[in-house]
Amino acid sequence: MKLWSGRFGKETDAAAQAYLESTAVDERLVAEDLWGSQVHAIMLARQGIISLDDLRALLRGLGQAGAAYAAGTFVLQPEHEDVHTSVEHFLTQTIGPEFAGKLHTARSRNDQVLTDAKLYVRERILETEEALLGLIHTLLDWASAHAETLMPGYTHTQHAQPITLGFWASGYASLFTRDLRRLRQAYEIVNTNPLGACALAGTSFPLDRHLTTELLGFDRVHEHALDVVGSRDFLAETLAALALLLTHLSQLAAEIVWGSTYEFGFWELDEAYTTGSSIMPQKKNPDVAELTRGRAGRVIGCLVQLLVTLKGLPLGYHRDLQEDKPPVWEAFDLVPPALTVMARTLATATVHTERLAELADANFAPATELANYLVREHGLPFRRSYEIVGRTVRELIAESKTLKEIGRVRELLADQGLAVSEENLRQVLDPVHCVAAYTSLGGTAPAEVRRMAAALREQVEGHAATITARRERIAQARERTRQIVERVLNGEGLEEL
Ligand code: ARG
Repeated sequence: MKLWSGRFGKETDAAAQAYLESTAVDERLVAEDLWGSQVHAIMLARQGIISLDDLRALLRGLGQAGAAYAAGTFVLQPEHEDVHTSVEHFLTQTIGPEFAGKLHTARSRNDQVLTDAKLYVRERILETEEALLGLIHTLLDWASAHAETLMPGYTHTQHAQPITLGFWASGYASLFTRDLRRLRQAYEIVNTNPLGACALAGTSFPLDRHLTTELLGFDRVHEHALDVVGSRDFLAETLAALALLLTHLSQLAAEIVWGSTYEFGFWELDEAYTTGSSIMPQKKNPDVAELTRGRAGRVIGCLVQLLVTLKGLPLGYHRDLQEDKPPVWEAFDLVPPALTVMARTLATATVHTERLAELADANFAPATELANYLVREHGLPFRRSYEIVGRTVRELIAESKTLKEIGRVRELLADQGLAVSEENLRQVLDPVHCVAAYTSLGGTAPAEVRRMAAALREQVEGHAATITARRERIAQARERTRQIVERVLNGEGLEEL
């Protein structure tokens, strides 16, 4: 019998039924649906909307549903359409329609499904944040260990100026710390209570939405009932944070891939995070990083999928909104493992410091610092010194020489009217000196890298504390519900509420 069998004289067509059902997607919401129902029932009884006997029967049935689901004897059936109706069907079978039929008082599947989804998504956000913390810590470890390790800095994938590997790693840590902040902010909009919005308009029953907020560990009530049932921006914000995070991760992945090539030779990836070829016996491929780069496309697709579903929908619930969950589930399945394997890939890589130092010094990379020197020591306007160094580089290239041929560099500068001692020139063109001199706020100087890394560490520790506090809040709410259920089933009332 369908929920709406009163209104309908006909069965749903089998193909239409199979088309409509969402049990595979809802499989992840069973525990959440049961918790939400326990709390709803407790609230109904506390408000005198159902009796204590009704509550007892409902809590007994919901407990049995949880146990039967864990034991595999309660299975979501496609013919029951979704998790909500499956649970209601189970209750009808176990505690009878007299009691089971009361649970849906002052509730709709519209606010129910949102409650379930929010309880699920908030946990997945915390899990993702934890995985991201792991990656940021790995990057910050590199920042500390390699604050002085030279590395070529690039713009346009062309040699630009010498930097340090610690500067590069802390740059990614800085970027990912903002991704952490975005996830933390998404949690705030996720963790508001939709329960009690009912179908769209609220209800004539005297609900206590603050009680359900507290017992489900939500931060506050999402008040406006019509807004509640029609809006999925909590999912869009979450997916936007995930899509941007994977976009950033794909950038890191791309750099890891290129740095591991024979041509760049920055680092060698561990065998545990690479694969071989089926035909070329010598190959060691950076597949983990490549797949991460590719998966970013899927996560971006998840965000686009949701936004396109929402676009143009009038306020209120529409069945289109059932399509909100698959992209969110998919993104959460992809992102935490990507963060974990990428952190491991980095942590286990062998850094080739000599190769990095060689490249940091190559291809005229210290030229900018020479121009800076001429400004400082010879009082030239920067544009003039830039031109002089440019001419010097041009001449060296024509002669197949480099900036390392200090004698020739000196001559070329002298030709342009600038007398620079060999000793000064040697110092200015030394990449170690260049890097040490970039002490401006946020620059690549080792002391500045260490300072920024320490500040980032402090920031992520603050984030970690928030994650712990949120987890504790959820655990407390769960435990409080469990205790109330236990007392009611032992014959006590709801006086404590
Ligand atoms: N499976 C539905 C969804 O995910 C549950 C809500 C159904 N509500 C309704 N009015 N048909 O959106």
